[in-house]
Amino acid sequence: MILILDFGSQYSQLIARKIRSLRVYAEILPFYAPLNVILKKAPGGVILSGGPASALQTKAPTVSKKLFDLDIPILGICYGMQLMAYLLDGKITRGNTREYGRSEIRIQSDSALFKGIPDGNTVWMSHGDSVGKVPSGFRILAGSHDCPVTAMGHKTKPLFGVQFHPEVHHTQNGLRILKNFAQNICREKRTWRMSAFVDKTIADLREQIKGRKVLCGISGGVDSTVLALLLYKAIGKRLKCVFIDNGVLRKNEANTILARFKRIGIPARFIDASRRFLEKLEGVRDPEKKRRIIGKEFVDVFLDQLGEKDFLAQGTLYPDVIESVSVKGPSATIKTHHNRVKEILKLEKQGRLIEPLKELFKDEVRELGRELGLPEDVLKRQPFPGPGLAVRILGTITPERLRTLKEADAILIEEMKNAGFYHKIWQSFCILLPVQSVGVMGDERTYENVLAIRAVQSVDGMTADWVPLPARLLSRLSNRIINEVKGINRVAYDISSKPPSTIEWE
Ligand code: XMP
Repeated sequence: MILILDFGSQYSQLIARKIRSLRVYAEILPFYAPLNVILKKAPGGVILSGGPASALQTKAPTVSKKLFDLDIPILGICYGMQLMAYLLDGKITRGNTREYGRSEIRIQSDSALFKGIPDGNTVWMSHGDSVGKVPSGFRILAGSHDCPVTAMGHKTKPLFGVQFHPEVHHTQNGLRILKNFAQNICREKRTWRMSAFVDKTIADLREQIKGRKVLCGISGGVDSTVLALLLYKAIGKRLKCVFIDNGVLRKNEANTILARFKRIGIPARFIDASRRFLEKLEGVRDPEKKRRIIGKEFVDVFLDQLGEKDFLAQGTLYPDVIESVSVKGPSATIKTHHNRVKEILKLEKQGRLIEPLKELFKDEVRELGRELGLPEDVLKRQPFPGPGLAVRILGTITPERLRTLKEADAILIEEMKNAGFYHKIWQSFCILLPVQSVGVMGDERTYENVLAIRAVQSVDGMTADWVPLPARLLSRLSNRIINEVKGINRVAYDISSKPPSTIEWE
């Protein structure tokens, strides 16, 4: 296995995921894990993750220097590389500004780490400090225009450092670099399988739940469907699935989802709570407030179904956790996820919260679902946020605006499916803006709503690129939406990527 020591980077889990995608088991420990705990795991290699600290600051997060003398291959990424350089008496240059974004590397020495990586390879950087001078015994493996030591390696020991992030999608051949490390340098065998995860999780769930019951909310999304199926396989009829209509679902969604569960063979209870959600949302503009209201109402309706001794299961994925709580301080809160409201945290403290997907990314969940035998149309369903259309109606939510967005979105989904794009991309959806603009219809001047269309490609939702949909499709979408949906007289197309934008507009 490969052990990742986490220094608070929001990409640590992504490193683990990428290594697991190579069929090599990877696990994360906090950077302060004692050396004997690390050794007990008998790792074939160790990765020191990135992190927001500076190796030069007092009380910088660190590891025991002895780690570098054990002959275990080590790869430092970003902060991990700086820390390695600092501890082995190299020089760190303090950065006044952060270098952020794409950069091209110039390979300077042959190394096992960069085997098969072409000169000029694009990499993704996000750092302030950098290595000014490599420690003795090391050489520079690659440099770039703004960062002379972009990668370093020891001349005789299996110690490596890269300033960039090989784990993120924007680094070309990033997986190849991790593969070189895991397979060629650490000599790990490709033996890990998703079926191993299924067996272990089902056994763990049975052990944890014993004879008790589990309440599981389903949304129709991939995550909650996979979760329900996993639980159903583990505990059968002791699973209580509930589907709540929160009033901000897409057109016909409730029926479609209930029919699907019936088909899969898992009993599910339907609760129409739309009125109570919409009453609470009346007049609310602030997206964070909308999220909090929906989260709270959901929990209230949902917890009503929770027996005194029941467990609560949630399909929380890793990105939900990383984007809503700060990991040891450094990763800032980006937005509130309903998976982490007060009541849920209380259940977590009582040991009654079950989140078996917490370490996985979306594509891993899809693979898991496939392993469990879910049909492709369920697995390839685009992600839909918990707070639903509430975060896609900017400004206040009224029944009229909800109807407008539902109609427009239904047209978009239909056209995307017809054009063969729906299953090919990460997400495509409409956003109703709190903006009106002038138009003409017939001889009349209109003053109506602007609707935005967003289509993005992404591997895990952490980063995303906007999709250049064909002009003919865009034109058809715009024509149909403006002609068929009352209240919209202008359609705009969103051409922003994440970062710096996010996928949802909120
Ligand atoms: P952002 O807007 O942060 O979204 O770039 C990243 C991905 O997460 C989805 N999303 C959510 N999913 N509950 C969810 O289950 C939520 O509260 C939530 N908010 C955003 C979003 O649709 C995108 O795929």
